Amino acid sequence: MDHPGLGGSIGTAFRMREEAAAYEPDWVLCDATALDPALPPVLGDANALQQVVLNLLTNSREAMVGGGEIRIETGPVAERRGWLRLSIADSGPGIAPEALSKIFDPFFTTKVEGTGLGLSVSYGIVRDHQGTVDVESVPGKGTTFVLTFPAIPGAAA
Ligand SMILES: Nc1ncnc2c1ncn2[C@@H]1O[C@H](COP(=O)(O)OP(=O)(O)OP(=O)(O)O)[C@@H](O)[C@H]1O
Ligand SMILES: [Mg+2]
Repeated sequence: MDHPGLGGSIGTAFRMREEAAAYEPDWVLCDATALDPALPPVLGDANALQQVVLNLLTNSREAMVGGGEIRIETGPVAERRGWLRLSIADSGPGIAPEALSKIFDPFFTTKVEGTGLGLSVSYGIVRDHQGTVDVESVPGKGTTFVLTFPAIPGAAA
């Protein structure tokens, strides 16, 4: 197991996405200023966590046909000491209430060329890291995924 900093993992995913964004000018990259590189690390697989971030960013981008905003934030979980939170919020069309309970199911997709595996795989990775996933979505306004992970006990902030 690696000891990836949540901020570092996300930073790498960002760089990959920034390269992709150069070819997709309608995709507005968000405000990364809220990322905190000084957060304590989580114990886990850096590549797997990057994959989770990429899956969520890809979904947001695919949802926002014609552009929009994605906001990523990291920080401590106020009400749960020793835990870290990562949120990815987009200004896309949101998820229909009847779809919301199915989005983590394997093969559930509303896309013509989707496999429906992105969120199911992401959920499994977060669970393997003892983390949690929550989603809030308001049709017409956007979608926010919130992940939390336990920080390594005793690691410096
Ligand atoms: N940010 C989002 N905004 C709107 N809908 C979303 C968002 N994220 C996920 N969804 C919905 O959840 C469904 C499942 O997402 P998931 O990533 O598992 O599969 P997919 O994106 O359809 O296919 P794949 O990821 O395999 O290419 C999507 O088809 C879409 O309907
Ligand atoms: Mg997807």
